[in-house]
Amino acid sequence: MNDYTKEIEKALRSYLPKGDGNTDTVINSMDYSLMAGGKRIRPTLAIEFALLCGGNINAVMPFACAVEMVHTYSLIHDDLPCMDNDDLRRGKPTNHKVYGEAAALLAGDGLLTLAFSVILGADAMERNGAEKCVSAAALLAECSGANGMIGGQIIDLESENKEISLNLLKIMDEKKTGALIKAACLLGCISAGADERQCKAAEKYADNIGLAFQIVDDILDASSDTETLGKPVGSDEENKKSTYVSLLGLDECVKISRQLTEEAITSLNEFEGDTSTLKQFAAYLRDRKK
Ligand code: IPE
Ligand code: IPE
Ligand code: MG
Ligand code: MG
Ligand code: MG
Repeated sequence: MNDYTKEIEKALRSYLPKGDGNTDTVINSMDYSLMAGGKRIRPTLAIEFALLCGGNINAVMPFACAVEMVHTYSLIHDDLPCMDNDDLRRGKPTNHKVYGEAAALLAGDGLLTLAFSVILGADAMERNGAEKCVSAAALLAECSGANGMIGGQIIDLESENKEISLNLLKIMDEKKTGALIKAACLLGCISAGADERQCKAAEKYADNIGLAFQIVDDILDASSDTETLGKPVGSDEENKKSTYVSLLGLDECVKISRQLTEEAITSLNEFEGDTSTLKQFAAYLRDRKK
């Protein structure tokens, strides 16, 4: 995984706009959050699936960067006072704490827009061809929008201060977190020209690690410490969020995250290539401490 982080960071930096000197505030604000580290899980998944399906890192990189841009935008907005009202992200003060709420809002908008400039840009077109770029853009839009991440975020906000059903909780997590993880995996498949069977298996893996990922995020929010996590612990309880932990308790959550990870690993048996990295990756996501 670490093998790709440097290349991902370099590519992300290369895609940040330079500006004309009059727009520095928003560009610096975008740069601040995008280059603040983070685990780069989504671009790594895009790369791994591209390689598994016979693609290459150069071609998938603009797609991988695009999903990380949408993800980073979602975090900037998620931390705003009108949403989770958090002060720390990726070990640094949140975007709005540094640049103010208006610039943070615009930096999020800027990153969302940039993602589509990159996915439909010259690099992406040259390396993947127009048809794959259009498919990639359509997929990322669907997974980011009201049927995907945005939809999950509204369910999350409307579920504060009440107990919701396990079914709605699952739908919420599949959307707010699972959707972008699915986009990441399938963007890799698209870049590589994967067949339908491969895409189906990738989707199954993504669905399982996506839900597991949010459950582990909820576990860490309830049980880790701020220094390790790089974001405030106890935020969910403070906001009276509905989470797997609030509904089922920590022990049950650990069990479920293990089951989901096992299912993700099993779904990789559909592939003919070497899936050992993606198997290890699922286990890493389950066992992560941040
Ligand atoms: C945090 O995502 C938000 C969720 C969707 C749970 P990550 O844990 O991937 O955050 P970074 O990118 O490493 O900061
Ligand atoms: C966030 O879920 C999902 C997003 C779409 C950003 P959380 O609100 O639990 O994410 P963190 O814990 O703040 O990273
Ligand atoms: Mg949130
Ligand atoms: Mg949050
Ligand atoms: Mg959380």
